[in-house]
Order: sequence, then structure tokens, then C-alpha cells
Amino acid sequence: MRITSAKFVRGIVCDDPILGDGKPQIAFIGRSNVGKSTLINSLTNQSGLARTSSFPGRTQEINLFLINENFYLVDLPGYGFARNSAGGRERIQELINSYLFRSHYKQKLTEGDLDMLHALVAHKKNVIVIANKIDKIKKSEYVKHMRKIESSIGGHTIIPYSSKSKIGIKEVSKEILE
Ligand code: GTP
Ligand code: MG
Repeated sequence: MRITSAKFVRGIVCDDPILGDGKPQIAFIGRSNVGKSTLINSLTNQSGLARTSSFPGRTQEINLFLINENFYLVDLPGYGFARNSAGGRERIQELINSYLFRSHYKQKLTEGDLDMLHALVAHKKNVIVIANKIDKIKKSEYVKHMRKIESSIGGHTIIPYSSKSKIGIKEVSKEILE
């Protein structure tokens, strides 16, 4: 795929409806000064798109860049910048965590779900997320809904399922039996 357009949409410092708009998000995560913002500029071939600096701690907000009008590249602040004040470091870490792990607008995972997921991951359990009762979701909302869940569970396999409508039975059998 070629990147044909890239533009800065906005920087956010807390939860924001844009995170739930259904467009996929690809986020760059890493320590301060490893070159995340520069990487976005080189991928999009626009040297001034994301602000960069030779000093760590340049990116302070979650910056969203709309690519080809249909997905976002997300430039996150770096973590672990020692010279940031302790308060500043905490604020940045909290911002990164809330972007990556908290529930965004209207998606249906609760804090409890996410706490459980993180505990399972911390104990190196294999996890499959089954989005059950999918028959309750309107067809027109389906893709948006699945993307919202996807964006909050961090790369785990997610399988839409309905015992009632017999959706996903084959897929779940395959995951657990093969
Ligand atoms: P934070 O916003 O603080 O998290 O930093 P960042 O990860 O966004 O780093 P940034 O893109 O601002 O780049 C940090 C420094 O590394 C800048 O001086 C860049 O010029 C330099 N840099 C980035 N990518 C490369 C690379 O591929 N090679 C070299 N040699 N330097 C790079
Ligand atoms: Mg940066």
C-alpha cells in the first residue's frame, strides 16, 4: 500500500471521541528519543509532519495523523525520559496507558474486563477474546463495534460469536482444538 496523503488531525491529552470513530489506529510505542516521530515522517515522506528533536521528551501528546483518509498513524510520547520531572513522567505514562489499555468511547469492555485481560497476560496465559451475543449488534454497527473492541484488547485474537445465531462456532473450535 502506498501512502498518498497524510495530515495531522490533532494532539490529545485525554480520552477523545476521535479514538472511537472506527478508523484503525497504528501506534508507535517506545522510549523517548528512539525516533518514533522521525519514523512517521519518513514513512509518509513529509519531513515536517511530526515534530522531532535531538532531545528526548519532544512528543508530549498523542498525535494522530490521518493517512489516505482512512486510518491513523499515532505518535505517542516516549516513556522513561529520566530528565522529565517525576510528575511529568507519571503523567506521560498514564497518558500512554490510558490510550493503550482503557476503554474508549462506547465500546463495551469494562475496566474489569481489561484488568482481567492484563492479569492474564502478566501471567503468560494464552487468551482468546470471544465477543459473545454478537446477534445483538446491528449489522450497520458491526465493523465499528469489532474495531472498538480490537483497539482496546491489544492484539489478542477476537472472535465474534453468537450461540443463538450460531456464529463463530467453527472459528472458536478451531482456536481451541488445533
Ligand atoms: P520522543 O518524542 O521524545 O518520544 O522521541 P521520538 O522517539 O519521537 O524521537 P525523534 O523522532 O524526535 O528522534 C530523536 C532523535 O533521533 C532525533 O535527533 C532524530 O534526528 C534522531 N533519529 C531518528 N531516527 C533516526 C535514524 O534512523 N537514524 C539516526 N541516526 N538518527 C535518528
Ligand atoms: Mg516523538
